Amino acid sequence: MTAATRLRGRFGPWAAVTGASDGIGRACAQQLAAAGLNLVLVARRQPLLDRLAAELSTAHGIRTRVLALDLTTDDAIAKVDTDTLDLDVGLLVAAAGFGTSGLFLDADPAAEADMLRVNCAATLGLAHRFARRFAARRETGGVRGGMVLMGSLVAFQGVPFAAHYAATKAYVQTLAEGLRLELRAQGITVVASPPGPGRSGVGTRAGMQITSGASPEAVARGTLATLVSGGGTATPGLLSKLLTWSLAPLPRGARSRIMGEVMRGMTQHRAPPPRLQRPDAA
Ligand SMILES: NC(=O)c1ccc[n+]([C@@H]2O[C@H](COP(=O)([O-])OP(=O)(O)OC[C@H]3O[C@@H](n4cnc5c(N)ncnc54)[C@H](OP(=O)(O)O)[C@@H]3O)[C@@H](O)[C@H]2O)c1
Repeated sequence: MTAATRLRGRFGPWAAVTGASDGIGRACAQQLAAAGLNLVLVARRQPLLDRLAAELSTAHGIRTRVLALDLTTDDAIAKVDTDTLDLDVGLLVAAAGFGTSGLFLDADPAAEADMLRVNCAATLGLAHRFARRFAARRETGGVRGGMVLMGSLVAFQGVPFAAHYAATKAYVQTLAEGLRLELRAQGITVVASPPGPGRSGVGTRAGMQITSGASPEAVARGTLATLVSGGGTATPGLLSKLLTWSLAPLPRGARSRIMGEVMRGMTQHRAPPPRLQRPDAA
């Protein structure tokens, strides 16, 4: 059985993808469409979603529904749910998200609060609503459900100069790890996908200079492969694998310092952040 057949058979006939207008979410949508799943496409930029929906319908003969929504708003999560109740959705890919970087003292509180809403509150709300739907779906038809929560390598320790972004991704990683074991009894497969730095929009929007890393397509491929093979934490892309394996054995504090230096390098084109002091320095 091919990966595409397994994806469609276990998680079809419909998948809902947030962040589908760009980057990793868009690449996930393209690969799911190629596997024959019908798609609900969610993001704010309707023209991009409409164009993608038309392209994927033509190329793969799938059905699509576009939901142009801002996930920072109070009613957006309920709307994703109610506007898809007539569809047999078996997979949620929660890829909408963004980051911020730079000195915490200079952060814009409104932008940080929006990031908390999109990266955490929306992920929580969608995971909860779709988990209930998948559990009910299994009771009636014995079909499985799946959930992909898009995290980041910054999730595994505090990260100076992206402290709040890392905190939002730690939330996502922890939520996914817990749900993976808890929801297994309901036949729901959960994937935490923590990409390393990559060539898609998150870095640009966060003001980070990212010159190398995995393509959105490679991240999507690695993430969906983990879904098909039973869930857990994906290591999508070569850089993600290298960074995960090299950082994992180190104490958490050492990882924070290393990631802080990496983030300092990625943000110094704007205003060079100060050197990190040792914890015992005055
Ligand atoms: N690429 C990387 O280097 C990397 C590394 C680690 C983790 N990640 C994570 O992977 C996910 C995707 O990143 P990406 O690089 O693919 O980012 P991207 O190219 O900037 O795409 C982000 C997607 O999220 C959507 N989005 C953002 N704010 C939204 C809002 N308020 N309401 C609805 N949709 C919203 C955007 O759509 P609209 O603008 O049309 O709303 C877009 O479709 C993020 O959670 C990111 O933190 C990425």
